[in-house]
Formats: sequence, structure tokens, C-alpha cells
Amino acid sequence: MQILVCGGAGFMGSHFIKYILEKYPDYMLVNFDKLTYAGNLENLKEVENNKRYKFVKGDICDASEVDRVVRENKIDTIVNYAAETHVDRSVMDPSAFLKTNIFGSYNLLEATKKFDLKKMVQVSTDEVFGSIDSGKFREDSPFEPNSPYSAAKAGGDLLCRSYFVTFQTPVVVTHSCNFYGSNQYPEKLIPLFVTNLLEGKKVPVYGDGKQVREWIYTEDHCNAIDVILHKAKAGSVYNIGSGDEIENIEITKLILEYLGYDEKMIEYVKDRPGHDKRYALDANKLKNELGWEAKVNFRDGLKKTVDWYRENEDWWKKIKDGSYLEYYKKQYN
Ligand code: DAU
Repeated sequence: MQILVCGGAGFMGSHFIKYILEKYPDYMLVNFDKLTYAGNLENLKEVENNKRYKFVKGDICDASEVDRVVRENKIDTIVNYAAETHVDRSVMDPSAFLKTNIFGSYNLLEATKKFDLKKMVQVSTDEVFGSIDSGKFREDSPFEPNSPYSAAKAGGDLLCRSYFVTFQTPVVVTHSCNFYGSNQYPEKLIPLFVTNLLEGKKVPVYGDGKQVREWIYTEDHCNAIDVILHKAKAGSVYNIGSGDEIENIEITKLILEYLGYDEKMIEYVKDRPGHDKRYALDANKLKNELGWEAKVNFRDGLKKTVDWYRENEDWWKKIKDGSYLEYYKKQYN
């Protein structure tokens, strides 16, 4: 396969590239990334000289750049990790979210159609379904996105559906729960809290901290996309969930414990506007049809993640930027 990994310099894209290069010795991967604040080529240091890997700086919102990278590298498959992903940023300024998550997805669908590619995998989120108090979202649950971020992702996903129905474009959409692991930009809950504590700072828990998220470790997610890439039928949709549901405050306490702090380091701050209470995915379709199941238990994965940030201060100290958090606090507190 000749795979174009869009957003390959980001957290999950870079894990996926390393995973595929190691597992499939005859695959060629092109990392197509705009290098926004969350893209970091240091995530790919160990593969940068690999002859089957290439980096091309570019933006999925630019159709001519997308066409060129597909044509010049004889790409036959696209995996789209490129997205604006951070909910709080989308509350402050939705425009980049609409461009990348909707228009960017459209350009990739157009390229998949025009160059007659074998498959496109659209990596998306459980947030398109909105919030659920009990039970779990299935692949056919209605879209009820609550943030500009999730509304933009829903728009991209619906375009995928329309391209399959109208043009038979071979696209597969995935809805994943929250990712965690090494190399995640320190703005998301886990890396933000771990790095704050490593800096001796408090951790800002939104509202009462009783919101529930379902968490999947990097390796498990790479494995799920691998299975979907090779086995899923065109036009299909899969939830990727681990079943590991946990309240934010419980995660916070676990991180405090691992790093030897007490609850005085918690600062309860005003809630995120439109904050979804709970996400939970029914991932039985992926298990029953393609035989995939998550393997990493949340507490084991969290410990590994905390250790990685503890041992890799150089990686996060260079890129951590508290300025938007200050701005966010001023605007909503
Ligand atoms: O569910 C999948 C989604 O998970 C992805 O689609 C998104 O791209 C990804 O950002 C993530 O969204 P969340 O909003 O769930 O992730 P975040 O790490 O921002 O927040 C996790 C929970 O922790 C959420 O309930 C908000 C809360 N939180 C977050 C931050 C950054 C806090 O209490 N304090 C914080 O400072």
C-alpha cells in the first residue's frame, strides 16, 4: 500500500505511522501535515530516515496540494487524522475547525474519487453523537453535536456518507472515544494535568469533574484503524471504544496519586460552555464483524503515559503554551 497519512505529525497520526511502518515492511507512507501548533516532527524522529517514509508539508484545505501529493507519490489509500481537535479552542474560534474538518475532508474525498483510490479512512469522534446519560451510542445513533468542534466533525462525516451514496467513493468512517498515550499535545486533560503537576502547578477541573469519558490507549487505536483499513467494506461506519469509562475527577485523583500529590492541587474552575456530560460507545460491531477488541487496561495505560511525560520533559517543555488557557479562563470565568 502507498498510504497518505493526513495529519501524520500529530499525536495519533504519528503513532499510526510508526505502527504501520513496523508492522508492514512493504508499505510506503507519506505524512502530509500542515504543522499547526499540535503537529510535531519530533514525534517521528525514529523513522525520519526510513526509506518507506516521507514527510510533505501541506494543508488538506488546499485541493491542488492534495492532488499533487497523491499523484506524485502514487498514493492508493488515505487515512485522515488531520483535524482541529480541541473543543475549548473551537469555543473561542470555530473558523479553523470548519475549514479543516469540513472543507479539508471534502478535498480528500474529491481526491479519493478523482484518483480512484482503493480506500479512505476518516478518523472521527464519538462527540458527533452528543451526550448520553445512560446506555451507549451505536453507529446508527443520530448526530447531535454540541460544540463547534463536533459539529464540524459531523459535517465531515456526513460528507463521507454522501460521497459513498452518490459516487460510491470507498470511504469508511470511524467514531473513536478519547485517545491517550505518549506525545499528546499538553492541552488535553491527561497531558495537561500531568505536565502541570510536573511543573508544580495546580490542575483545572471544569465544573464538578463528574463528566464521564471513555478512554482508548494509542496502541489499541492504531490496531483498530489497521483492522478497519484492511477489512472494512466501503461505506461502512465503525465505533472504536474500549469500554473504559471514568469520571474526570477519578482520572485527576489517579494522576495526583501517581505523581505523589494530594487533592490540594485541584482547582475547580468554571465549566466548559456546552460541556457534554458523558460519552460511551457500543463497539460490538467492530468486535463481531472484524474481530477487534481493546487490550490495554486504563490504569496500566495511564501509568505508562504519566511515566512517559515524566521522562520526556524536553519534548513537552518546548511546546507547552499556557497562553490560550489564560485567555480561556478570562473569557469564561
Ligand atoms: O471523545 C473524543 C474527543 O476527545 C475527541 O474527539 C477530541 O478531539 C478530544 O479533544 C477529546 O475531547 P474532550 O473534550 O473529551 O477532551 P479534553 O481532554 O479536552 O477533556 C476531557 C474532559 O476533561 C472533558 O470532560 C473536559 C475536562 N477537562 C479538560 C481540560 C483540558 C477539564 O476538566 N479540565 C481541563 O483543563
